[in-house]
Amino acid sequence: MAQATVYIDTNRVISAISPLLFSGFAEHMGRCIYGGIYDPASPHADEQGLRRDVLAALRDLNLRSVRYPGGNFLSGYNWEDGIGPKDQRPRRRDLAWKSIETNQFGTDEFLHFCRELNAEPMLGVNMGTGTIQDAANLVEYCNAPVGTVYGDLRARNGHADPYGVKYWCVGNEMDGPWQIGQLSADEYGRKALEAAKMMRWHDPSIETVLCGSSSARMPTYPEWDRITLEIAWEYVNYHSMHYYATNFEDDTASYLALTAELENAVDTLAGVLRYVKAKTRSKHDVYLSWDEWNVWYKDRSGDGHWTEAPHLSEEVYNLEDALVVAQWMNVFLRKSDVLKIACLAQIVNVISPITTTRDGLLKHATYYPIMLFSRMASGNALDVAVKSQRVETREFGDVPVLDVAASHALETGTNAVFIVNRSQADSVTVDLCWQALTPTRVTSAYQVAGTDPKAVNSFEHPECIIARPIEVQDVSDGTGTLKLPPLSFTAIEVAF
Ligand code: AHR
Repeated sequence: MAQATVYIDTNRVISAISPLLFSGFAEHMGRCIYGGIYDPASPHADEQGLRRDVLAALRDLNLRSVRYPGGNFLSGYNWEDGIGPKDQRPRRRDLAWKSIETNQFGTDEFLHFCRELNAEPMLGVNMGTGTIQDAANLVEYCNAPVGTVYGDLRARNGHADPYGVKYWCVGNEMDGPWQIGQLSADEYGRKALEAAKMMRWHDPSIETVLCGSSSARMPTYPEWDRITLEIAWEYVNYHSMHYYATNFEDDTASYLALTAELENAVDTLAGVLRYVKAKTRSKHDVYLSWDEWNVWYKDRSGDGHWTEAPHLSEEVYNLEDALVVAQWMNVFLRKSDVLKIACLAQIVNVISPITTTRDGLLKHATYYPIMLFSRMASGNALDVAVKSQRVETREFGDVPVLDVAASHALETGTNAVFIVNRSQADSVTVDLCWQALTPTRVTSAYQVAGTDPKAVNSFEHPECIIARPIEVQDVSDGTGTLKLPPLSFTAIEVAF
């Protein structure tokens, strides 16, 4: 059995953890909205058609914000199709996913859903077929008082008070040839700047997100990021990153070492942010928004064959995916000085930890690490020191066998430590050593583990991979010992 030590010093603060790192993304794609969030025909639907069981599962994930309505869908979406009396809303062909969009769910329904979830809405404006005027109109509709056209329209639709939507994405993946209305970096930078200006003039308190490269594999990466930021810097608050992890090669060792690449992606863009801030002589800061992240490779279907709510990209997540997700969230904590928003793509049915049938709901393996992080990580991220053996990988050379992050919440006097054991064969006994403060007790400890990296949950066996409570011995002498089985994720919280 291998041995390791993790040193935790509550003085070694990386940064405050932004709660928005625990956010999600809901797109008009497949069965995310229709049949997922909104399903009036389900026995679980409330009076508004929202799925109560989905809301409950999402509340347990403690999502702080939800990005909406896309995604690629956004770039062909006329938001005015989705407001007003439902029987007058148009049916449209959605060119992004070759699906029929009924518009029975739109901006007002989404904002109601966010209130039910107690999550901040993060709305996107269409930079593909949409104009800067359409973008400004949506801000007016959501945030202006009554007395002019769009505030009055909102009031007629039943919402006299402004919604006060704070977070706004200025387009989606505008560098991609798959995007409706793809733009060059220069064109997009200019359009985003002009849209953001108008949006801010309607409501100076909003915060905007610029579209970064849609992936580090794009030929324009990272020039796209530099150019668009240089143009729009003063009018944006965040710059987006998107990344979908894959294991096409079925190389589990490399897959479980993906953090090297994820950290590199953040570091490169953090470098671009510093460069542009210096070049523009700006006093203003722009942070990173990882507003699409997840594992996505087993089901890439994106053609709805012109049907309503088709089954698209209904990825089923296994244990190794859950361990990648856990490490990704470790990266969020380790990079919390520059990374302020992260949206899991997506939250129901489409590349999601939750799958529904008309009357059932299944939580996949990835649900559990997301829940543990979102409930336990708060306050400051800590720079922990880890002494452990290393494991060999084809893709990333040798990497530490443990992937670790920690948080410290001053208000509650609690400290959480998150550890993935990447080894497929070896258990690791890890000593936790608290250096500045001595904990008095363990308040919770959970493990997600299994012997088969491909193990999944199913409607027949829904509890194959879940978070199980574990026993931890006394920590009041400032040390604790955990046994980490191979292929495991452990989260422990102590109080001081
Ligand atoms: O989340 C699915 C799709 O992935 C989004 O629509 C798009 O932004 C990305 O390519």
